[in-house]
Amino acid sequence: MNASTLTPLISRELIVVTGKGGVGKSAVSAALGGLLASQGRRTLILEIDPRENVHQMLAAPPSGGEIVQVTSKLYLQHLQPRMVLDQLVRERVRVEFLTKRVLESPVYHHFSEGAPGLKEMAVLGHSLLLVQGRVPGAPAIDVVVVDAPATGHGVALLRAPRLVSEVIRQGPVASMTKEVAELVASPDRCGVVVVTLAEEMPVTEALELRADLRSDVQREPDLLVANGLYPPVSESTRETLETADARRLWYSRRELNDAELARLDEHWSGPRVKVPLFPLDRGPELVAEIERELAQ
Ligand SMILES: Nc1ncnc2c1ncn2[C@@H]1O[C@H](COP(=O)(O)OP(=O)(O)OP(=O)(O)O)[C@@H](O)[C@H]1O
Ligand SMILES: [Mg+2]
Repeated sequence: MNASTLTPLISRELIVVTGKGGVGKSAVSAALGGLLASQGRRTLILEIDPRENVHQMLAAPPSGGEIVQVTSKLYLQHLQPRMVLDQLVRERVRVEFLTKRVLESPVYHHFSEGAPGLKEMAVLGHSLLLVQGRVPGAPAIDVVVVDAPATGHGVALLRAPRLVSEVIRQGPVASMTKEVAELVASPDRCGVVVVTLAEEMPVTEALELRADLRSDVQREPDLLVANGLYPPVSESTRETLETADARRLWYSRRELNDAELARLDEHWSGPRVKVPLFPLDRGPELVAEIERELAQ
């Protein structure tokens, strides 16, 4: 692993991978998970997106909410935050008919869907319990990689503990919130990886995302991944491009990438890696290539 970029991430308990929609967050989460596992860390990739697709990246069966073992040290779980909240109710309200009543009540439904920060807290609380070995039936886990949903941008995830702790001040939820807030606020324990394409809108959003991280959670990203770069045009690639149109397209995409990388250079200090656009479909081969780039 590269000493300057990825080494600091290796000892974290939680790594949040975030960025604009479609930039490669899931692919990078899968690759990062694989890398950490290859370094001996028992790693669980936590996917929140209801469309569930990280398993395809890893050629694993779908999780459906369960923890799936991918390799000896790599696990995957697709989590619906609502399921975590329902489980909390089940644990707290031990009488079955009461539990049923709570879970079915419109008030609970309204609360669990609408309360700001609650679903995010469910994701973080679950991650914390995993690394603490407090999830019944779960394997021992050293680090959770959260493939954060695009909407809300991961900043919402990191902002949630503070939001919730302002509202709920006492009881078991409050103490859990405090523990999660400590985890998220500690750069030694929680890492943030921002993924972007070297294109105008994604770069603008990545810069905004970093500004939000600074102002809302006083955090700097640990790593920027500039993903999907057109490879520089070389003699050999030129020969593979059969038509003048294909060459023009390639040149112009690469020029755009260069301009946006220069804009990133200007405004974003800190570790970064560049990952090329590979001519591969979503799957383990693509993830292995991205892993290689991250490790370089
Ligand atoms: N470096 C790459 N080279 C080639 N294809 C890539 C690369 N990175 C990602 N992809 C492909 O781009 C598509 C989007 O990637 P991915 O699903 O990881 O993005 P995402 O940020 O998770 O998207 P969403 O916001 O929709 O969850 C996928 O089909 C993936 O296989
Ligand atoms: Mg995704």
